[in-house]
Amino acid sequence: STDASPWVPESREVDELEAAAQDCRGCELWEPATQVVFSTGGPGARIMLVGEQPGDQEDLAGEPFVGPAGRVLDEALVAAGIDREATYLTNAVKHFRFTERGRRRIHQKPDVRHVTACHPWLQAELAGVEPAVVVALGATAARAVLGRTVKIGEARGHLLEEPGHVVVVTTHPSAVLRLRGEDGYDEAFGALVDDLRLAAPYA
Ligand code: URA
Ligand code: SF4
Repeated sequence: STDASPWVPESREVDELEAAAQDCRGCELWEPATQVVFSTGGPGARIMLVGEQPGDQEDLAGEPFVGPAGRVLDEALVAAGIDREATYLTNAVKHFRFTERGRRRIHQKPDVRHVTACHPWLQAELAGVEPAVVVALGATAARAVLGRTVKIGEARGHLLEEPGHVVVVTTHPSAVLRLRGEDGYDEAFGALVDDLRLAAPYA
């Protein structure tokens, strides 16, 4: 098999999913990574936030969005009036993909095949958490959540009705972070906050 499904248990309890994911060999990304980075947040959360994949710091900590992009996300959640503790935070791909340059580990975007391989975990999380709204952070997350390719610029700013929940597509906090110190930062941050505000009433 070329996906995670052989490792996904019958249970839809998030704790049991997370425990089982430690052994996942659904694609090759498990091997160089430190550990699987599954999710944080309660199974009762009404808002699910989906990122792309763990970064360097997340790989080391074993928790999503604890690095620089996570701090941008935290600020945006505060500005949108969403309590991070009330969200379920996960990623489309659950192992860090990187190349090594000396001692540095350089983030590499996951390929579509990695997103596909990891999708059974996201499906199981959706079934277990049953969020009212799913926020897809960036194009990779949007593809994983919607099962189709969307342009962020066209999809953002709308509530997309999907079976079982609504979806809000927005930019990835890393894309906002890259603009820090530049003219476009405030606008990009503000647009992320506006998209999160669409999701806030569902909390
Ligand atoms: N970027 C992501 O998409 N997810 C993380 O967990 C961290 C950075
Ligand atoms: Fe399994 Fe996903 Fe990790 Fe690949 S990235 S090994 S599918 S958990």
